[in-house]
Amino acid sequence: MTTETWNAVDDYFSRGLVKSDAALDAALQASSRAGLRAINVAPNQGKFLHLLARIHGARRILELGTLGGYSAIWLARALPEGGSLISLEADPDTADVARKNIAVAGLASKVSVITGLAAESLEQMIASKTPPFDFIFLDADKVSYPEYLRLTLQLSRPGTVIVADNVVRNGKVADMANDEPDVIGVREFFDMLAANPETDTTAVQTVGAKGWDGFSITIVSAPPGITDSRTSR
Ligand code: SAH
Ligand code: DHB
Ligand code: MG
Repeated sequence: MTTETWNAVDDYFSRGLVKSDAALDAALQASSRAGLRAINVAPNQGKFLHLLARIHGARRILELGTLGGYSAIWLARALPEGGSLISLEADPDTADVARKNIAVAGLASKVSVITGLAAESLEQMIASKTPPFDFIFLDADKVSYPEYLRLTLQLSRPGTVIVADNVVRNGKVADMANDEPDVIGVREFFDMLAANPETDTTAVQTVGAKGWDGFSITIVSAPPGITDSRTSR
């Protein structure tokens, strides 16, 4: 039960099941050359997200936190013909690295990377009545997860799936003595979900190349306002 064993198992899965891939490898190499932190999802996690999106038949995907576009490439590859992914990234240089990686992967026509604070981009999408997304991946700053939940629910429909990364953080989420802003953000995110009768959520812990962490998964049954707009029609 050491990080070495966790890494060995991740390598084993990644080698045997996920397969090496020139575009994904190139994206990680270019991200590293550009000085981005290697906080992308692991290959087997990327494929996990890809499979979830395919299982769900997602045609419109939203991602918060693009980094070098690694998870975006995995998710965009789950899209059918005519599908699209919008990914939000605060840092303009990082967004440029991602756009290049996404273009190298042949996905430029399906993926738009929007530069700016995710909350502001979400507010704009809500104001401009952007159609709801089928699948949403939360992976930007963890302190803002409660705000991101509030906003992305307004870009959801019954059936929308919301997956959030980094919800365990070495067990800190359940250590009530821990008051780091990121940890408080994740806990408040879970409190909101637990109190919301229009969402169903679980979370699973993961160990591996990215340490001890986890994902949550939520299905939306009725986002705010949808009942009102239906009854008023
Ligand atoms: N999803 C990526 C990893 C994202 S890392 C992958 O797995 O490949 C988190 C990213 O969120 C970083 O690139 C960081 O710049 C971005 N970020 C942090 N705060 C943000 C904010 N307020 N709005 C948008 N992006 C933000
Ligand atoms: C960090 C962010 C991530 O999205 C992640 O998967 C791991 C680490 C971070 O900001 O430290
Ligand atoms: Mg993450």
